Amino acid sequence: MTDLVSQAPRLPRVGETIHGHKFFIGFGGKGANQCVQAARMGAKTAMVCKVGKDVFGDNYIQNFKNNGISTDYVEQTGDAATGAATIIVNDTGENAIVIVAGANMLLGDAELLKMQGALSHAKVLICQLEISPDTSLKALRAAREHHVKTIFNPAPAVPDLSPEFYKLSDIFCCNESEAEILLGETVATVEDAGKVSLKLLGRGCGSVIVTLGSQGCVVLSAQDSCPKHIPTTKVTSVDTTGAGDSFIGALAFYLAYYPSLSLEELARRANVVAGLSVQKEGTQTSYPYQRDLPEELL
Ligand code: RIB
Ligand code: NA
Repeated sequence: MTDLVSQAPRLPRVGETIHGHKFFIGFGGKGANQCVQAARMGAKTAMVCKVGKDVFGDNYIQNFKNNGISTDYVEQTGDAATGAATIIVNDTGENAIVIVAGANMLLGDAELLKMQGALSHAKVLICQLEISPDTSLKALRAAREHHVKTIFNPAPAVPDLSPEFYKLSDIFCCNESEAEILLGETVATVEDAGKVSLKLLGRGCGSVIVTLGSQGCVVLSAQDSCPKHIPTTKVTSVDTTGAGDSFIGALAFYLAYYPSLSLEELARRANVVAGLSVQKEGTQTSYPYQRDLPEELL
């Protein structure tokens, strides 16, 4: 997705027009954000996606290259436009987003077939819901066949997610509002997050992480199903857009390169990385490189 971002004092109400103070265009989209964060941590990455044969698509492919990401599995189509996200960020760094997935929705069997070669060498596959759910499911199934660890991020969330997604997730990672949509219950506190993470685990995931913004996250796994709160250090947030993607990209990096770390430690480290991203404007523009990390994370 190309992000079209307006900063305004607050989010507008229905039917209302308000003045914003800044506009910019950036590279976004959950999958790409996650891939870029993993690459900046030092991971060897490949992106599997589809963009349009348009200027946004051309620029995006160059952006992958600039971040050292393989574009062997990035396709361009003339049948739809590159995905776009209209984003409004308020003065406290909160946001509201509309995505028009466009070319992303045309990613299908042909591209999955092509990526099998890369999958057989991979350690981790990350999937989201900004492509057709059927394509994500097929990719997760293929990862299982190749004994590749899976991280599934059910975003944007839907209330009727296919039950197979849970069973195919080694790590099922969502934020509090996504957990609310998936389960139909309110998630406001760490305690709520613990309760919903247990329910999500019960649907067949290997482990579950529910991220809670400034409150860090809650983790649990099939081996240790007692929910654990992993707090994070307080920072002043400028723009929280894509912080969850930064978390997931960092998580994937540590999972691939430091496979002996505990789930708690993976989450603690991912908290630190995402905490750096919220202190800067935009999504990928705010993601740290390995050199920006505190020494204890190197
Ligand atoms: O998670 C943040 C991302 O969601 C943005 O970059 C936007 O493109 C939407 O996909
Ligand atoms: Na940011």
